[in-house]
Parts: sequence; C-alpha cells; structure tokens
Amino acid sequence: MSLSLENTINQKMNNIFSKLGLDTKFAAVKVSDRPDLSDFQCNGALALAKIEHKNPREIASLIAAELQSDSSFAKISVDGPGFINISLSDDFIANNMDEIAQDERFGVAKVEKPITIVMDFGGPNVAKALHVGHLRSAVIGEAIQRIERFAGNKVISDVHLGDWGTPMGMILAEIINQDGDLSKTESYNIDEISAFYKKANIRCKEDEQAKEKARIITAELQNGKPEYRKAWQHLRKVSVDAIKKNYEALDAHFDLWLGESDAHETCGKIVALAAQKGISEVDDGATIIRLEGNKPPVILVKSDGGFGYQLTDIATIKMRYDDLHADEILYVVDKRQSLHFEQCFETADKLGIAPGVKLQHIGFGTVNGADGKPFKTRDGGVMNLEDLITLSKNKVRESIPTADEVDGYSEADIEKLVNQIAIGAIKFQDLKNNIASGYVFELDDFAKFEGKTGPYIQYAIARINSILRKAGEANIKEGKIVITNKEERDLALKIAQLNAIIIRAHNEKEPSVISDYAYTLAQSFSTFYNVSSIMNAETTEAAASRLKLAKMVRDILKQLLYLLGIEAPEVMLKKASAE
Ligand code: ARG
Repeated sequence: MSLSLENTINQKMNNIFSKLGLDTKFAAVKVSDRPDLSDFQCNGALALAKIEHKNPREIASLIAAELQSDSSFAKISVDGPGFINISLSDDFIANNMDEIAQDERFGVAKVEKPITIVMDFGGPNVAKALHVGHLRSAVIGEAIQRIERFAGNKVISDVHLGDWGTPMGMILAEIINQDGDLSKTESYNIDEISAFYKKANIRCKEDEQAKEKARIITAELQNGKPEYRKAWQHLRKVSVDAIKKNYEALDAHFDLWLGESDAHETCGKIVALAAQKGISEVDDGATIIRLEGNKPPVILVKSDGGFGYQLTDIATIKMRYDDLHADEILYVVDKRQSLHFEQCFETADKLGIAPGVKLQHIGFGTVNGADGKPFKTRDGGVMNLEDLITLSKNKVRESIPTADEVDGYSEADIEKLVNQIAIGAIKFQDLKNNIASGYVFELDDFAKFEGKTGPYIQYAIARINSILRKAGEANIKEGKIVITNKEERDLALKIAQLNAIIIRAHNEKEPSVISDYAYTLAQSFSTFYNVSSIMNAETTEAAASRLKLAKMVRDILKQLLYLLGIEAPEVMLKKASAE
C-alpha cells in the first residue's frame, strides 16, 4: 500500500472517472501550480473534452460534484476553461502524516519489479592522481547508486579501473629508461610512479621512437610477458591503494574493483564472435565494425594487434551480462565520451552480447572555474581531488570554532566535523546542478551555512536535533498530528511530496531533484518553526504534533543527505561571526 497523498487522491479520482464512464487515463492529479487556490489540480477534463468534443467545464463539474461528497476534501472548484482545483481537509493531511511517521520509509514506495543495475563510475586510471574531472563521476555515481538501492533495485558498482592501455607501457618504458631494467619497480611508491608517468607523457609527445617502444611494451604486457606483468601488478596495486583512500575520503563505494585488464580474455572472444557473425572487416590493417549513420566505425583490433578502449568496453558489457546478470548498465562518465558509448552500445547490439539489457550513458558536464574554463589550481595546473578537499576544509574552518574555543570538543572531534562539512559542501555544490550541465565551482559560497549549500542542510538537521533534545528535557512527547496553522499545513504537504520526489530522482537518474527538495524542505521547516513553537505551544496537543513533525523532517533530511552521499553531523558548531 502506498502512503503517498498523491496516489491516494489518484485512486479516488480513478474511481470517480470509472463511475462516470470517463477514461481513467485522464484522472491523474498533480501538485497545484497555484498553491494559493488549491493543493492539487486535475486538468484531465480539458484533454477529455477535446477528444469527446464536449464542453470541458461541464465534464469538470460532473467530476467536481462527485469529489464534493468526499470529506477528505475541504474545497473543490472548477476554474478557468475546466481545471479542477482540489484542497484537502486538514484532517486528511494530518492522518496521512501520522501514517508516514510510522513508516520507516516515510511512505516511499519501492519499485514493483526490482532489477539488477551494474553501475560503472569512478573510472580512475593507474598512476594518475584523481583530479576534479573524476570528482563528478564519483559523486554523481555514488548518489545514483544510493537512490537506486533505496528505490529497491539491486546495484553492483564497478570502478572500471584504467589499467591496461598505452600509459602502462609508457611507464614501464620510462622505468627501463632510467634504471636499465624493471628490477627496482617494486620499491616505487605512488608519487614516484606518477612522476614516471608524467615524464613518459612528455617524452612520448616529443619522441616518436619512445612512443613506438611504449607501444611495443604495451602489446607485450597484454600478451603476458612475465617480467612486464610482474612490474605492472605492482603499479596497479600501489595505484589502487592510493585511489581507495581518495574514494574513502569522498565516501564513494564500489562493490567491484575490476579493471580494463580483466576484460582482456573476453576481448579475444568478441573479436572471434564479430568475425563469425561476419560483421567485422579488416581496414588498413585494423579490424573494425562499421556502424549506422555517420558514426565512425568501432575499432576492435588496432593495426598493431593491440586491443583498445572500445573493445574493452564492449567485452565488459558481455561480462556484465554473463557474470553479473545485469538488466541495466549505467555509465556515469564525462559527456565528452558520448560518441564512444554510442559506438559501444550499437556494437553490443549488433553482436547480440547483452540481449534486452538497457545500456545508458549518463554524461556529465565539466566543473569550471569562474572564467568558465575547466577548474584549475591557482597556478593553472589541474586541480587534484586532494587539493580540492583541503581547499574546502580550509573554507569550513573559517566558519567553525577551534577546539580551544568550545567546551567538550577535542581537536579530533573538530577535524571530523570539518571533514563532514567540507565533503558535504563539495558534494552538494555538485549535486544541486543538473548532471548534464557543467557548473562553476563557487569558491566563495559553496561552504556557507546559508543559501543552497550542503552545510545549510546539515545545519538544519543539527538545529532540529537540538530542538528535539530540548523538548526531551522539557518532557514533551510526540503525539497525533493536528494542523493548527498554515505553516504546519504547508510543511505537511511538503513532506507528502517525498514519494514523488524519490520516484522522479530514480526515473530521471537525477540527484538534483533530491537536493532541490531537501533545500525547500529545510526552508519550509524554518518557516514553520518561526511561528509554531514547541516549547511554548498553545496546547499540549499542538506541542506533541509539532514535535512529531520536527522529528519527521529531521529523519527525512538525514535520509535525503544520505542519498546524496553526505553525512549529517549530530551537532554543528558555528563561529559567532559566521553567516
Ligand atoms: N578511465 C576512463 C577515463 O579516465 C573513464 C572510464 C569510464 N568508464 C568506461 N567504462 N569507459 O577517461
């Protein structure tokens, strides 16, 4: 049973439409565009009238007459050309709130038929520090993973490590260049390995011979040359350890730590399958598959015999179908890679390797600086993730007191808080934007306690925690919801939207639906609490009801932040001077 107000009203509307012999397709209500006139509206009479060549106001009036006899509704009116405006009775809303308060999912329904979704996000590369470009994939991916699980689906997340391409051969070549052989490789740490990669990158850009050497080493590595494999294992391990720390800091989690290298064997199978199906051809030494329209062909095998990025992704689709039984595969990757995914998806279809599986690329825009260009460090370098987190923490420290300035807090407590707020600020700033659009990193505002920020929501939760503590001390107990003023009513109606919000975020794969709602819910609470005191309520019933509403808002906000991958500190500290 769904506890959603909207669903309950829709059910009533459906019954009325059936009774009147009207097509129930037009029965749905939506949250009113005119909250001054009504809570919900139904515009179905207009569409119906058009089809049946009738007067829309007449149809609307018939429906309205039926609604009028239901005590759930306080006011029904037919307005304009035939809109039905519906206002709910306070009792109906209050009962709904009581039901939602009892439900651990706050009335949010689960998907009817759960599916298995494989999520590919993160996509870090061996020997390269995570930078701000990788931030969005981890932050958005983690949020969608949590939203999907909450919606009732099974998610298997895979980091899909870039551990198999030419960069691997480049690093090995560079080490050989310096040391004469690979004997010292296992003594190198992540900084040293990254430095080799940087040097190799410059060298290969300038020197054709070096590039050729790296290419040959890559091919030999892929073909299994033991010496190369052993050294590469070390590069991979050291990188994975460093990357795991980064993702831990971001509170991003993966079920699988597979890499491009794990698809190597399947790549060979794909090449054979394509030949067997007669859809590949050799063109200028490379094995390719031609695609529809004017898309460039997919390159399965390069002219030097190497397997590339495209083949790896195609093989990985097969593995995710065969081994993980995916119903859906989602890729949270920079939108500049959309052609790559179109090519891979079309090829997978031609090969029939994942029948019935929905393949979707969720492409995100770039994180930009104030100049509208990709976000850089002060000296113009690429902003790596660790620097960004440090920057955010420093910003947060401007707003919260030090351990010396507050009682009962150790330095470690403050550091934990700084971290929770700093990560919350970074993530919320990202997730308040549509995935597809890029955004400007607002250096001045993103960590403020006011405005549409992570810390604002965290602060709202901590404030309610404090209200609940005080109410506890005053021995006030939660009780049945009663609506006594407009602000309580507005807040309750806002809470009632939660189910629809989660369903929308899940359908659209768009966490900003949740961040928007969390922000407006926190605002509604603020407005409510300004006029609806708990401690000085007019009656004990009003106090008990308000306390229950406050607790619901706190629990829902916590859940919403959780879905965005953001922690909610129990208490927030704020310098007196901080906004
Ligand atoms: N490692 C890639 C990059 O940094 C991203 C990987 C995205 N996922 C994928 N299945 N292609 O560009």
